[in-house]
Amino acid sequence: MASHTLVAAFIFLALVSLVLASDPSPVQDFCVGIDDPNRAVFVNGRFCKDPANATADDFYLSGLHLAGNTSNLQGSVVTPANVVQIPGLNTLGISMVRIDFRPFGLNPPHTHPRATEILVVLEGTLFVGFVTSSSGNRLITKTLNQGDVFVFPEGLIHFQKNTGRTRAVALAGMSSQNSGVIMIPSTIFGSNPAIPDDILSQAFQADKRVLNILRAPYRPRIGEVTDSEEQL
Ligand SMILES: *[C@@H]1O[C@H](CO)[C@@H](O)[C@H](O)[C@H]1NC(C)=O
Ligand SMILES: *[C@@H]1O[C@H](CO)[C@@H](O)[C@H](O)[C@H]1NC(C)=O
Repeated sequence: MASHTLVAAFIFLALVSLVLASDPSPVQDFCVGIDDPNRAVFVNGRFCKDPANATADDFYLSGLHLAGNTSNLQGSVVTPANVVQIPGLNTLGISMVRIDFRPFGLNPPHTHPRATEILVVLEGTLFVGFVTSSSGNRLITKTLNQGDVFVFPEGLIHFQKNTGRTRAVALAGMSSQNSGVIMIPSTIFGSNPAIPDDILSQAFQADKRVLNILRAPYRPRIGEVTDSEEQL
């Protein structure tokens, strides 16, 4: 009886800790991250600099006023300001990005495995949306103009599309020092090496011809697709 209660309590606690999983809360003023090649293990975050040696530059980044280069397939580019660029963000659970869109540019459907995103449009018009993980994968969308703010909940697939004839610019705050990004098209169809045909054919109920079309934009990256029907 008592052991059942213990097991139940343990499972409950495990679930609670899963539900509450997020970047660690800071247990000191700050912990400026350093890359220490002498340490063999990589902990969740980075090793810390001696606080006495921290400088203003550890907490500083310049250049976010500059537009990114949107001359790419999708017509959008993300300029990050996370723990990689700002080591002082280590353990603080926050970061930001600038997103530039050329006219009709798209930030393709993607997820951030570790962050909720809160976005503000500085310039232009964006059609944005996310899809819920349950409740029948409901699509929730909104057209945003200058000054409008929108939230993309942690882990959910979302996108932003510039629907205007002029460029668009947005800033977004992320609830992680390193939110991560999983671009759905390139992750599924441009992985290296490629996810085997039979897996994708079955998953998407599509034949190899369709898969080859979907993989085409990433072909240089996944050069080692060995399938003899690759030339279809
Ligand atoms: C802090 O800076 C001093 C002076 O530059 C240096 O000698 C010392 O090794 C540094 N401490 C750490 C822990 O990096
Ligand atoms: C932008 O990127 C394109 C494609 O990579 C490149 O050809 C072009 O020179 C870049 N433009 C600038 C201003 O860096």
